[in-house]
Amino acid sequence: MRVTVFGTGYVGLVTGTCLAEVGHNVVCVDVDAEKIAGLEAGRIPIYEPGLEPMVLANHAAGRLQFSTDAAASIGHGEILFIAVGTPPDEDGSADLQYVLQVARTIGRHLERPAIVVNKSTVPVGTADKVRAAIDEELAARGAGIAVDVVSNPEFLKEGAAVNDCMRPDRIVIGSRSPHAVERMKRLYAPFNRNHERVVVMDERSAELTKYAANAMLATKISFMNEMANIAERVGADIEMVRHGIGSDPRIGYHFIYPGAGYGGSCFPKDVQALERIARQNDYQARILAAVESVNDAQKGKLFEMASRHFGGQLAGRTFAVWGLSFKPNTDDMREAPSRVLLQQLWAAGAKVRAHDPEAMAEARRIFGERDDLVLCDSPDAALEGADALVLVTEWKAFASPDFPRLAATLRERVVIDGRNFYDPASVEESGLAYYGIGRGRSL
Ligand code: UGA
Repeated sequence: MRVTVFGTGYVGLVTGTCLAEVGHNVVCVDVDAEKIAGLEAGRIPIYEPGLEPMVLANHAAGRLQFSTDAAASIGHGEILFIAVGTPPDEDGSADLQYVLQVARTIGRHLERPAIVVNKSTVPVGTADKVRAAIDEELAARGAGIAVDVVSNPEFLKEGAAVNDCMRPDRIVIGSRSPHAVERMKRLYAPFNRNHERVVVMDERSAELTKYAANAMLATKISFMNEMANIAERVGADIEMVRHGIGSDPRIGYHFIYPGAGYGGSCFPKDVQALERIARQNDYQARILAAVESVNDAQKGKLFEMASRHFGGQLAGRTFAVWGLSFKPNTDDMREAPSRVLLQQLWAAGAKVRAHDPEAMAEARRIFGERDDLVLCDSPDAALEGADALVLVTEWKAFASPDFPRLAATLRERVVIDGRNFYDPASVEESGLAYYGIGRGRSL
C-alpha cells in the first residue's frame, strides 16, 4: 500500500521504516529540510538500535523515500499518518498546533479520498478536531472528498522501538468507519501474524487507551519508588519485596523496578496531560497527581543520598556519574533523572565527571562548556579524581565494574546505585560504601 508519514521524529521515522520493511511504499515528510537531506544521505537523526540498517536498506530498495514536499507527498499516500510532536505547553496540556497544521495541509492539497491516521499522542477528542480542520480546508475550496480519520496510537519504547513496531503486543485502531478499519487491518496484516493483535474501538477510546497505558506504567513505577522509600525506613530490602510481589501474576515482574524516577518524553508528559484532560472534564485525578509528585521527589533521591553521606558538605567534591540518558539504549536525555542530579550537585558546589555510551553529544548540547562538568570518553576516565560514583542509568557497559579497582580509584570509596544494579555484598567486599534505592542503607 502507498503510505505517507508526516513527521520524521522518533515515532514517524520508526513507523515509516517498519511499514516499508514489510513491503509498503512509504514517503516520510518533514518541514525540516536539513533532516530530510540528512536522511536522503543515510544520516539517521536519532540513535535507535536496528533502525539505521533498516532505513538504508529500504531507502536503497526504493520503498522508503524522504521529502519536504507536502503537496506531492499527500498525492502519494492512500493512508496519511500524522506523527508530529505534541510538546506540552505551559499548563501541561499537549500542544496540538503541529498536528492541526498537518491536518490543514492535508485538507488544502488532497485530491482523492484518503485515510488520515493520528499516531501522535493527543488529547481525547483530537480525531474530531483533525477531521474538522481537514473538512474546513476542503470546504474552503469546494472539494467534496471523503476522508476518514483514525486514531492509531503507538506503543513504542525508545531503545526497543524497531522491535516493538515489528512485533507489537497490540494494534489499536480507533475508527467507526468499516472501510477505514478494513484498510488499516490490511496495512498491518504483516504485523498481525499467529494471533489477533488488532483491537478495534472508537476514536476517543483509542486516544484514552494510549494515555491510560502510560499512566498505568508510570503508576507502577511511582508505587514501587514509594515502597522503596518505606522499605529503607523500616529496614527492609525493596529488591526482596519486588521479587515477592512480582511473582503474583496479577502484579507481574514488569515495570516494578524502583530507581531514580521515570524520565523520557512520554511518561512525564502524558501523566501531566491526562491529569489536565481530567481537570478540563471536571474531574480531579488524584492518583495521577500523586504519581507525578512521587516521581518529582524521587528525582532528587540520588543527590539526597550523596548529601547525607557527606554530611551536607558537597562543595569541592567531585562525583563520577555513569549514565546520562533517561534509560539505556538511547541518547535521549529529556526529563532524565541525571539532569536533576547534576543541577543539584552543581548548586551545592560539587563537580561532575560523567560518561554515557550514547548521550555525550546530547549532554554537550544541553550543558555546554562549564567548569564543573567534564564529559569523559570512558567509564574509567570518569572515575579519575572522583570522590564517589553515582550510577544513574543501567547501561550494560556499567554492569560489571572492577570493584577493587573502583575502591582504589575513588577517593572516598562510595558507590551510589540509582538503579539497584549492583549486588551490595560484592561492592562492600571491596571496601566500598554502597547505597541503593530502598535497601536499608540508603538514608
Ligand atoms: C514509554 C512506554 O513504555 C511505551 O510503551 C510508550 O509507547 C512510550 O512511552 C510512548 O508513549 O511513546 P519510553 O518512554 O521509551 O516508553 O520508556 P520506558 O522504557 O517505558 O521507560 C520510561 C522510564 O521509566 C525510564 O526513565 C525508566 O528508567 C523508568 N522505569 C521503567 C523505571 O524507573 N522502572 C521500571 O520498572 C521501568
